[in-house]
Amino acid sequence: MSRRITLGVVRPAAVNIFVNGKAVEAYEGESVLTALMAGGVLVMSRDSFGRMRAPFCNMGVCFDCMVEVEDGSSRVRACLTPVRAGLRVIVPDHN
Ligand code: FES
Repeated sequence: MSRRITLGVVRPAAVNIFVNGKAVEAYEGESVLTALMAGGVLVMSRDSFGRMRAPFCNMGVCFDCMVEVEDGSSRVRACLTPVRAGLRVIVPDHN
């Protein structure tokens, strides 16, 4: 089931990003966080007590969307990182 709004939305051709090695459909121009959430990745990390952490602000303030990208820039905020075809993303607490 898609989590994306489709009615009245025109998107470019889909591309794949790879989340922990698994292909996830995304669209260039959207944020990595949008692609992750649309792909069902809702938990990004755990706090020191083991409680799940999920993105909160979607605008670069809370740092609860930190992921690793394999393009040399290491840890980034997913909500501020644009999708690029073939981008490899590591979400530390996602299986
Ligand atoms: S969701 Fe808050 S910094 Fe990304």
